[in-house]
Amino acid sequence: MDKVNFINMEDGTADEYAFLDALEDEYKADLPKRLISALRNLNASLSGYQISRLEHSLQGATRAYHAKESIEMIMAILFHDIGDELAPYSHSEMAASLLRPFVSEKFYWIIKHHGAFQMYYYAHHTGGDRDAREVFADSPWYEDAIQFCHQYDQNCFDPEYDSKPLEFFVPMINEFFARPRVDDPEELAKYGKR
Ligand SMILES: [Fe+2]
Ligand SMILES: [Fe+2]
Repeated sequence: MDKVNFINMEDGTADEYAFLDALEDEYKADLPKRLISALRNLNASLSGYQISRLEHSLQGATRAYHAKESIEMIMAILFHDIGDELAPYSHSEMAASLLRPFVSEKFYWIIKHHGAFQMYYYAHHTGGDRDAREVFADSPWYEDAIQFCHQYDQNCFDPEYDSKPLEFFVPMINEFFARPRVDDPEELAKYGKR
């Protein structure tokens, strides 16, 4: 078989879906490559800052690396703004969704809400509510999200900082995104594949 016969999913056979699953497994194996390429695209996004979004992400990840943070933390930082290119109105959620099968609930939550927590640092200049994060005050990860933004996001726009290049993080990306590591594998099955 080099192609399925169905034109409606409901008409596919078990053999056809087994065939598609095998192809999909191959495709998934290249996920790290696609993620790296998406990171590179951040080089061109959001002008006006002193550094690109890629440099910003590398700076945060490098700070976390020097602080001996976990790989989970380093990867969360490296990809926290990956949504900037395609989801300018919901960039936090896009990054969280991408990371969801690979990180703990805690990091999923932090990345999903980092945009709201970042507002603390600028929203009072733009007519927004810098205390938007307060709606999350009861979350067990509220303080973690504050620290995440304070240590590895709001302070990572320094053109003089000596960030590691993207190549430095490639082995970590390859390892980290090689397979999902959800706390509950049954949860992953619920997301569906296609
Ligand atoms: Fe962000
Ligand atoms: Fe950021």
